[in-house]
Amino acid sequence: KFTPRVFSGIQPTNHLQLGNYLGAVKRFVEMQNSGIETIYCIVDLHAITVWQEPADLQRATRELAAGYIASGLDPEKSILFNQSQVAEHAQLGWIFNCVARMGWMNRMTQFKDKAGKDREKASVGLFSYPTLMAADILLYHTTHVPVGEDQKQHLELTRDIAAKFNNDFGVDFFPITEPVIEGVATRVMSLRDGSKKMSKSDPSDMSRINMTDDADTIAKKIRKAKTDPDPLPDHLDGLADRPEARNLVNIYAALSEATPQAVVTQFAGKQFGDFKPALADLAVAKLAPIANEMDRLMQDPAEIDRILAHGATRAHAIAAPILEKTYKIVGM
Ligand code: ADP
Ligand code: NA
Repeated sequence: KFTPRVFSGIQPTNHLQLGNYLGAVKRFVEMQNSGIETIYCIVDLHAITVWQEPADLQRATRELAAGYIASGLDPEKSILFNQSQVAEHAQLGWIFNCVARMGWMNRMTQFKDKAGKDREKASVGLFSYPTLMAADILLYHTTHVPVGEDQKQHLELTRDIAAKFNNDFGVDFFPITEPVIEGVATRVMSLRDGSKKMSKSDPSDMSRINMTDDADTIAKKIRKAKTDPDPLPDHLDGLADRPEARNLVNIYAALSEATPQAVVTQFAGKQFGDFKPALADLAVAKLAPIANEMDRLMQDPAEIDRILAHGATRAHAIAAPILEKTYKIVGM
């Protein structure tokens, strides 16, 4: 009943980081090139659930657009746009606030992590973030959402919201969307702490590789990445309780499109003192062309704005009739 359609989004905060690239953007490009209809969003309404300086938000929005395009997204093949420019996201988000139950929302671990100890000070938007995310996805009758591991719970909530809406109103209107969490880089870990995921919003810049970092910075961050004193084993099982070592092997595998076992086989018996420079060279070779292209695109902000406006027009053309039907179903 539902034509295959892919949707995903990234928050325009700080700089795009390697985890976003390997876990999300690189896979967005693969899906675009598989011929399926693809819609990729810059989710600025999500970004403002925590404080953003207005000038930073505007810069990060354009920079993320540049990052998408520099990574291989084609604004003619995919729909690329900024969430706030398509008002239907917020409108359907409200409907879903009235579908989702407090009990479901209270179980969201990302809210607990992001709100921290002083939950009373978190914005209401941060709490209802997952209902807006469900709206982002279901507004396009999306069937597949490529995301990193950290979004799994929000995708389950999206399915629950679709099912409850369909059931409450006795319709088969919203699809039960499939998360696509695949590959070796679904959870790239912090370079400083093997128990935390790499994130744009981590206070430590050394914890991540930004897509805008220059070659020296990339090499320095990899050199200083936390590891243990043991050499690389000859089998992947030898990394089972070495999360930092495993993370660097996974990054190497994802960048070189090899399996982690093939990487371990190649470097078996080598120290991290040898592996890290090889990883740095590989990372620079893969990432520098993207950073350079982002730089070039950022020279012309008016062109980026034009591309995003074109994408918003195309997104709106799909979203508007779906919101209109939703309102009819609800009785509005
Ligand atoms: P961040 O946590 O860096 O601010 P977002 O919340 O904007 O990232 O997530 C954008 C996309 O990148 C999502 O699909 C998310 O699952 C993915 N992602 C974020 N961090 C990682 C990571 N460390 N490894 C793999 N994928 C990630
Ligand atoms: Na995230």
